[in-house]
Amino acid sequence: MDLDSIYAPVRADLTAVHGMLRDELSSDDAFIGELVGHVLTTRGKMIRPALTCLSALAGGGGGAARLPLACAVEMIHVASLIHDDVIDAADLRRGQASVNAVWGNQVAVLLGDYLFSKAFFLLARLHDPEIAAAMAWATVRMSRAEIKQIKAGDMPHTDETIYFDIIDGKTAQLMSAACRCGALTARAPEAWAGALSAFGREWGMAFQITDDALDLTATSDRLGKPIGSDIQTGKVTLPVIHALRHAPEIDRRRLAEIVTRSDGDRLDGPFGPHGSQSGIEDVHEILIRSGAIDHALAVADSHAGMAAAALDPIPESPARTSLLALAHVVTARAR
Ligand code: IPE
Ligand code: IPE
Ligand code: MG
Ligand code: MG
Repeated sequence: MDLDSIYAPVRADLTAVHGMLRDELSSDDAFIGELVGHVLTTRGKMIRPALTCLSALAGGGGGAARLPLACAVEMIHVASLIHDDVIDAADLRRGQASVNAVWGNQVAVLLGDYLFSKAFFLLARLHDPEIAAAMAWATVRMSRAEIKQIKAGDMPHTDETIYFDIIDGKTAQLMSAACRCGALTARAPEAWAGALSAFGREWGMAFQITDDALDLTATSDRLGKPIGSDIQTGKVTLPVIHALRHAPEIDRRRLAEIVTRSDGDRLDGPFGPHGSQSGIEDVHEILIRSGAIDHALAVADSHAGMAAAALDPIPESPARTSLLALAHVVTARAR
């Protein structure tokens, strides 16, 4: 996706947010400084701060609170990535070594805690209880969904509603809250804040479904994070659910065999550094052959369509145009 041109209305905002991240996370402690420096070396796509600031502008204005809000949203996101990489035992994030890979799980857990706490400290200073509550609730939803995801991985399922519930909680709710709270900083009428909240929710669903498809089809060089990781860590995503239900029986059996292996076998077997590549190749072929990737992307497209439709009540503006463009490109990176 050509994010650069889509971000045009908030380019200066995003630069300010990145500077604020550095300032807010800085510390007299040299080791904490080193950790923060590592995490901020690579920026990521800055999608959530962009959604926040675009929603503030689309919601009628650029109240100054949008910048610390966007900064807090990105801190919550980065904290969740640091913890997610511990959970997934992932060694690569944003194209560089993950925190856990360099300093171990203990430091990564505590650095994630540091970022979460800093985010809520920043939000507290906005003196807006509605925003603070919405951001806290999104974080509750995220943690609950991550816990559910681990539980669902114990017993691979073929139930799309379990998958949708998990990705709603772990990804879409933060995006929804970012959009809603962005609009609140602009004192937008409730109808607009609700519309932007719905936009963020649907966009987040489309984004995570696409990202999960990429975990099965992209390369780690392109994504800057490990691929095949969902199979390895027992996350049942939409293409796998679809293929487990609809592929020819021989393919279903092979796929079930791979996704139901114990964690250790999964890690050392199909994708591990010492294992053969046949597992991931088999999964890939089965998913393509059965149309499971196409199915997942079609579902993502339908959420993207709902995101675009949610913008109907929002008046024309460059920020609204950018949000609409985001809805049009969200699934494009998987095609
Ligand atoms: C990664 O999010 C986690 C998911 C929700 C899939 P992003 O793809 O937005 O991560 P960065 O911020 O660009 O690294
Ligand atoms: C998204 O899940 C992580 C969070 C929302 C915390 P994933 O586990 O799929 O994210 P990636 O693929 O590692 O970025
Ligand atoms: Mg992960
Ligand atoms: Mg993933």
